Amino acid sequence: MTHFRPHLLFTTLLLLVSSSPPNVLLIVSDDQGFADLSLNGHPTISTPNLDSLALSPSGAHFSQFTVAAPICSPSRSAMLTGRLPLRNGVYSDAPPPIDELFRVFYPSSKHCLNDTTLPALLKKNKDYTTAMVGKWHLGSNLAEYCLPGDGKQGFDFFFGLPYSHEEGYPGPSPESYTFPPVPLYVNGEIVEQPFVANDLSSRYTNITNFLLKSLASPVPVDLPPTVDKITGDKLSELNLASRSNDPWFIHMAFENPHVPLFISDDYLENHSPSPRGLYGDAVSEMDSIIGEIISTLKKTNQLDNTLILFLSDNGAWVNPSNGLGDDGSVSPLDGGSNAPFQGGKGDTYEGGLRVPFIVKRPVADDDEQTGTTTCAFEPIRVPVSALDILPTVLDYAGVELPKDEVHDGVSLRALLEGEVDSLEERCLFHWRERDLYAVRCGRLKAHFITRSGFDFKDLGTKHDPPLVFDIESDPAEKYPLAVGDQGLTQEELDDIIDAGKKHEAEMEEGKAKSLYLAQGLDIMPCCDRENTANNLDDIPKIWVHCTCDRQAA
Ligand SMILES: *[C@@H]1O[C@H](CO)[C@@H](O)[C@H](O)[C@H]1NC(C)=O
Ligand SMILES: *[C@@H]1O[C@H](CO)[C@@H](O)[C@H](O)[C@H]1NC(C)=O
Repeated sequence: MTHFRPHLLFTTLLLLVSSSPPNVLLIVSDDQGFADLSLNGHPTISTPNLDSLALSPSGAHFSQFTVAAPICSPSRSAMLTGRLPLRNGVYSDAPPPIDELFRVFYPSSKHCLNDTTLPALLKKNKDYTTAMVGKWHLGSNLAEYCLPGDGKQGFDFFFGLPYSHEEGYPGPSPESYTFPPVPLYVNGEIVEQPFVANDLSSRYTNITNFLLKSLASPVPVDLPPTVDKITGDKLSELNLASRSNDPWFIHMAFENPHVPLFISDDYLENHSPSPRGLYGDAVSEMDSIIGEIISTLKKTNQLDNTLILFLSDNGAWVNPSNGLGDDGSVSPLDGGSNAPFQGGKGDTYEGGLRVPFIVKRPVADDDEQTGTTTCAFEPIRVPVSALDILPTVLDYAGVELPKDEVHDGVSLRALLEGEVDSLEERCLFHWRERDLYAVRCGRLKAHFITRSGFDFKDLGTKHDPPLVFDIESDPAEKYPLAVGDQGLTQEELDDIIDAGKKHEAEMEEGKAKSLYLAQGLDIMPCCDRENTANNLDDIPKIWVHCTCDRQAA
């Protein structure tokens, strides 16, 4: 017979306490380049809050982090599902050059992300409260419950833009007739159309702060005083006071610093202009909001038990346009820098894929001293991927990876906690739409196809044998290697080619049906169906016919 052993009970209690799942704050910037923060050496952009997050005892930053696709929708789909876009359907299945036309979801896209998301898994397994503030861009058809907060995407609440703000920005403007004015949503309801740009990020801050305070308080917290009625009602319906013991997952997805650049009046009034111009302001405004959010986490005693992840969705858009052709409203200086890499948003050079990645892991109360073992100023140099975010978060939350779906990433927890200094060697596969463009294994990257990021006339160049770079000694991918150069052996070359072939064959079986092609003008809310009626001659009238009555004041 066992007898009562108090120390055992005590240990068990401690285990129970320390196993309470951490909160998760996943922050994404839009089109921010690798070099566009002071941490990575930008000479004139100032990002003190992100820098100190990375350099804090439980923080880390990575110098070889790549996203799963060099453009918004597929990159975000992979981040939220831990699966390559080819597996989750967010890719174009058309041959070049038509694939160029369907690389993201449009306001008229009939379908949307249709896969298990990270917040859905957290909610299902550990009762997380889940919310999203910012840009979605994974499909917006209300009839299919595509928006977060509106059913199937795993979020309890959503306040933000359904897609990229240049898809009709902000409207109405005579040139921008392709899409209706961009609406602002709370869950599946329109708050205003067009959205009011000059205080949007300030509203994001206030709503996120409200969520964070409410989730830490057993009694209701006052709504932000300036919140609109529709959003206020939805926030109240969440009944957050009753959820103050539950862990939460909050996804903040900034429009900053995507073109056309816009910045809150609040920020501009209180800060001197960035020497890097409007682009620098857009990055610094985001940094300052992140600072406010971290300060709220501190004040409400939640910072230690929160896992924070920050990344950009793809490399900077070099020489950006506003998506509507050369109307002069966007200057080349409105795009960022991918230095020291070549290429940028849209292509599969490192400039399109390699972005900032900062993580602050949760620390248990008794764990204050055990930080990463290396000096935090040094980045972690192990090649990792946005596909690793889902397995890492699930690991911290104590949730097993679902066995009925293939996941493409691995947990970074041991790396973050300084327990290992490398991961089992694996290859990273860089797809663009339906084709495998490049493979990275260890120091080598092999390009099977190269193609410019955005050029309708460039159908891509195939390389057989592949163009191979040692991207550790030649991060800019300038000097292709032949067997014998830099110690490259025939065997290494064969191995990386085989890795690509094997992966392609595997994906041929694992691929989902593409979700992009189906379009309908009547998907856009409030479109006057009789006048638009999917008739292409009527497209210029979308501005007139697809604007909801609820106009901004
Ligand atoms: C979404 O997924 C469900 C379940 O796998 C499937 O039945 C449905 O056809 C999918 N929808 C689209 C538009 O692919
Ligand atoms: C956000 O909250 C601050 C502080 O209460 C307030 O000064 C600001 O006007 C609010 N912003 C908006 C857009 O409501």
